[in-house]
Order: sequence, then C-alpha cells, then structure tokens
Amino acid sequence: MNILVINGPNLNLLGFREPDIYGHETLSDIEKWLNEQPESAGYTIIWFQSNHEGNIIDRIHEAMGNTDGIIINPGAFTHYSYALRDAIASANIPTVETHLSDIHSREEFRKVSVIKDVCIYQISGLGKQGYLEALRTIANYI
Ligand code: DQA
Repeated sequence: MNILVINGPNLNLLGFREPDIYGHETLSDIEKWLNEQPESAGYTIIWFQSNHEGNIIDRIHEAMGNTDGIIINPGAFTHYSYALRDAIASANIPTVETHLSDIHSREEFRKVSVIKDVCIYQISGLGKQGYLEALRTIANYI
C-alpha cells in the first residue's frame, strides 16, 4: 500500500515559520514521527513537498495507478487552486485534506477550501496529529 503525503508551499519552512501558529517542529520532524507510528507499518509512505503548483499537480498525475491514498496539505493553494482541485478529481485516488492549524478559526479567506469537495475528508487544527488522522481515514476507506 502506497500512501503519498504532499505538502505545499511554505511548509518546507515549518519549525521556523510563524511557530505560534504552526509549532516548532520541522517538516522532517513530522515525517520521521509519522513514519514511526504503529499505524504506518504496512504502508509505504512517500513524502513530497513543493512550493510550485504545477509540480504538485505533476506529482498527483504520477501517482495515478500506483498510489492507494493521498494526504495533502496544500498550504495556501487550498483556498484558490482550481487546478489542484481538478488534479485531485482527475486522479480519483482517495485524498484527505489536512491542515496543521484550524483554518476555520483564522482569517476569512482561509475558511474556504476549493478542494474540500473532491477529498474524502478534511482535517484541520490537529497539528501533526492531523497527518496520522488522515492516514487512519484512508486506511478505513480503502
Ligand atoms: C495550512 C493553512 C493554510 O491556510 C496556510 O496557507 C498554510 C498552512 C495549515 O497547515 O494550517 O500554508 O495549510
């Protein structure tokens, strides 16, 4: 079982970026942590981060036919990338939208997710735990 975890723009700066909102752990810390969770055993977890919309879309296309589930934190693309929405819909791979912060209790523009309807579930505000919840959601779905 292959699970692809995609992190979008600025998430490479985790640990340094607005730590009051996103915490002090780096993306590598979160990767290591998720990979070591008992729930991760039995899955091949593939991590991908890009600051570029097209690269994320290309990676979703590459996942077609070889990936059982996608966990995606699209960063700010969440709020306006119809191209990303179309890529998720086209790939037809069960995808969970995941956010570290609670997008519903922040600025108005963050409350809107243009990808929510093409994902099987949205997780928001659980910090790194959200990635584990996303894995559990995919495991129960597939
Ligand atoms: C985020 C929330 C987005 O609004 C923001 O643009 C991010 C991170 C989160 O994980 O909480 O880059 O997706």
